Amino acid sequence: MKELLSLNKFLWKYRWQLLAGFIMVILSNFVSVLSINYVGNAINGIESLLTGYTSGQSEDISDVKKGLMQAGLLFIGLKVIAGLFLIGVRLMIIATSRHIEYDLKNEIYSHYQKLSLSFYKKNKTGDLMNRITEDVAFVRQYLGPGIMYPLDLVSRATIILAFMINIDPKLTLYTLGPLPILSFLIYKVASTINKKSREVQKQQSNISSIVQDTFSGIRVIKSFNTESSTMKNYEKEASDYESKALSLAQTEAYFFPLMVLIVGISNLLILYMGGVRYYEGKLNIGVIAQYFMYLNMLIWPFTSLGWVTMLVQRAEASMARINEFLKQKPEIQNTVEQPTPISGKIEFRNLSYTYENTGIQALENISFTVEKGKSLAIMGKTGSGKSTIVLLLARLLQPTSGQVLIDDVPYENLNLKSLREAIGFVPQEAFLFSDTIQHNILFGASEEDDLDSVKKYAKKAAVHKNIEGFKEGYDTILGERGVTLSGGQKQRISIARALIKDPQILVFDDSLSAVDTETEEEILRNLQSEINQKTTFIVTHRISSAKNADHILVLDEGKIVEFGTHTELIAKEGAYFSLIKKQLAEQD
Ligand SMILES: Nc1ncnc2c1ncn2[C@@H]1O[C@H](COP(=O)(O)OP(=O)(O)O)[C@@H](O)[C@H]1O
Ligand SMILES: [Mg+2]
Repeated sequence: MKELLSLNKFLWKYRWQLLAGFIMVILSNFVSVLSINYVGNAINGIESLLTGYTSGQSEDISDVKKGLMQAGLLFIGLKVIAGLFLIGVRLMIIATSRHIEYDLKNEIYSHYQKLSLSFYKKNKTGDLMNRITEDVAFVRQYLGPGIMYPLDLVSRATIILAFMINIDPKLTLYTLGPLPILSFLIYKVASTINKKSREVQKQQSNISSIVQDTFSGIRVIKSFNTESSTMKNYEKEASDYESKALSLAQTEAYFFPLMVLIVGISNLLILYMGGVRYYEGKLNIGVIAQYFMYLNMLIWPFTSLGWVTMLVQRAEASMARINEFLKQKPEIQNTVEQPTPISGKIEFRNLSYTYENTGIQALENISFTVEKGKSLAIMGKTGSGKSTIVLLLARLLQPTSGQVLIDDVPYENLNLKSLREAIGFVPQEAFLFSDTIQHNILFGASEEDDLDSVKKYAKKAAVHKNIEGFKEGYDTILGERGVTLSGGQKQRISIARALIKDPQILVFDDSLSAVDTETEEEILRNLQSEINQKTTFIVTHRISSAKNADHILVLDEGKIVEFGTHTELIAKEGAYFSLIKKQLAEQD
């Protein structure tokens, strides 16, 4: 139960609701048990009528009828009151579990947002999703039924036991004797059921991921003619699922008969021992009926014990998974409260970076300086570390060693929000939300920006004409249910999104790879005034985009091999020079 203790702060928050629920559980059970007395009374009334007949001194039948009617009405009336209390219990306890579920989801979600990129690289999206949906649901079931049923069982058993002992301690002992055995057996069967149903669930999620994979890869499957082997694979998993589900059903089949058997034994004991004691004159006939009803009231809570244990164990495991993420400290944290204005000088000093999850050293001892307003082109083969440099610049990764200085200050000493605001970042993989084009461009913009400025920057990014071509223009919805854009269109919208922020630093990570050379040159011409004013990093493969930059940096396997201007590097006849020769040859 260690992990579940972390929920106590929420339980405390809703303590009054829980207390009200607790009181109402007791009231409901008390009233319900009390009502059973009237059944006993009614039966005693009938008995006295019968004994009256046999002994010849007939009692007034209308009196007895009136008594019966009264007892019946009282019985039903009290049951109704108990039912009303039970509604209150559910409203208090189950509603509380829903409130806590909401609070917990918010806590997890806002924590997710704080965690750094490296966390997301280490964990699978499906895992993140499961913890906020499935695991929270399991925890909620503990908070609702997992708390309500034990409360109900304890209060009900205590009250019934008090009533029973008060009437006849000996008969009580005989009646309740088999109940602990019942609980134990049910616990055994329930935990087997639990184990098997977990296997069924696991297999179910295997099948889901296979099916999902099939759907997303349907084009490849069809074009490679592999439908039948895909089908066989599915059949294998499905038949595994079937056998597991059948085995679960077999165990479940034992559950109910077992219960009926043990309850039957208890009933038999009441009938036999009650009869003997009635014959001995130790109790009224009505008591036997009352005992049958007491036993019935106890059966459900006892059978639910095994299920509740399962709920608690499952919630404990889920809470452990949730806590594991909640305890993770974001690798990158803001330590400076006041905003820090940024003008845009950038220096990398002896910087190295190793990806923790793979142990790949992506950058080794990188040092260079770019003055405010100057531009830097970064070139190099795929995997040479270009994206890692720009991710480090945006402080989306934390340097393993060395420093990034902005305006001569190590950027850990800058306000993180100010830093991110100062950078217009166009990532390598353009990502657009399932929303309108206008909202996608306005994503990081300020309040004043409107459709006019959206259009202005879309024109700069050379995507305005494409957007105008859509029926809905800037209100076109993107994404799975909307329009699918080409890679180049996505990149250009993503550029407009970075520009509209009007940042001090612009970063293009291979952001024009999917547009043709002419469009690329058009965009760079449109952006000339921005590039002149702002510090700009352009990661690119094309000499045509790199040659106008103030500095060119050539990377190879995480190390700087060349750094200088276009003319300097040509004169050197090194890596940059051979890149030019290669690209010219390709053009020919
Ligand atoms: N998320 C990651 N986890 C582990 N290794 C990575 C990750 N991203 C990149 N790498 C590795 O770091 C190196 C540099 O990658 P990257 O900066 O993306 O290169 P480039 O942008 O020049 O293609 C590569 O060897 C790559 O495999
Ligand atoms: Mg890259």
